[in-house]
Amino acid sequence: MGILDKHKILETNATALLVGSLLVVTIGGIVEIAPLFYLENTIEEVEGMRPYSPLELTGRDIYIREGCYVCHSQMVRPMRDEVERYGHYSLAAESMYDHPFQWGSKRTGPDLARVGGRYSDDWHVDHFTNPQSVVPESVMPKYGYLLDRMLEGHHIEELLETHRFVGVPYTDEMIENASADFRVQVDPMGDWDGLVERYPGAQVRNFDGAPGISEMDALIAYMQMLGTLVDFSTFTPDASR
Ligand code: HEC
Repeated sequence: MGILDKHKILETNATALLVGSLLVVTIGGIVEIAPLFYLENTIEEVEGMRPYSPLELTGRDIYIREGCYVCHSQMVRPMRDEVERYGHYSLAAESMYDHPFQWGSKRTGPDLARVGGRYSDDWHVDHFTNPQSVVPESVMPKYGYLLDRMLEGHHIEELLETHRFVGVPYTDEMIENASADFRVQVDPMGDWDGLVERYPGAQVRNFDGAPGISEMDALIAYMQMLGTLVDFSTFTPDASR
């Protein structure tokens, strides 16, 4: 009996075909899934990732509230044109403290995963206030009102606690100091040593250039942090994972 004839048995017998398919899918499934049980972590470890500072986290909430993700992604794909335009492709570790993640699914505007440090704070203030004054053909809405909405940081401890509840490793010390850290990040004259110790690489500036802490300050602090935490000069992809 030739191989085609043997195959005919399977093709003409529904039960045999079903049992055969099930067997093949089971083997395939085991091969795919079993290795995951022996991995401690599917997220590669990288230097520099840390939980967001209270001000950055507040800015992130404003980003979500305003629906920026509707037009912007935060995920550089490992393809040449993207890497040349935006920088190193995104790592899973870079969104490990994002609840919910902000990868997005649409790019009306550019990807923002590495926008930190690309523009000055002043540029961001001008751009948010009136995008068309900087990029005349832009379809981005105006967000100037963020300058007038002042923040007191009332629920900042609870905000950090909520993120700790879903797995972000905020320490007791971070939560105790949340309110002070929130305030001092826009005050270069203040005592921000503790902030920078708790959140290495946190940028301390008056982001919007105006007195008080506005939603603009928080959003720009978040923008300027994006993509700046991981030191890619020390990162080597681990092919064994
Ligand atoms: C209706 C779609 C839309 C929405 C909503 C939107 N943007 Fe944009 N955004 C754009 C477009 C288009 C551009 C490119 C032109 C420009 O720079 O204005 C852009 C550009 C940007 C840039 C400059 C990026 C770069 O690399 O040049 C930043 C930063 C930015 N947006 C942030 C935001 C934030 C933060 C929000 C929410 C508060 C937001 N955008 C909401 C469409 C949008």
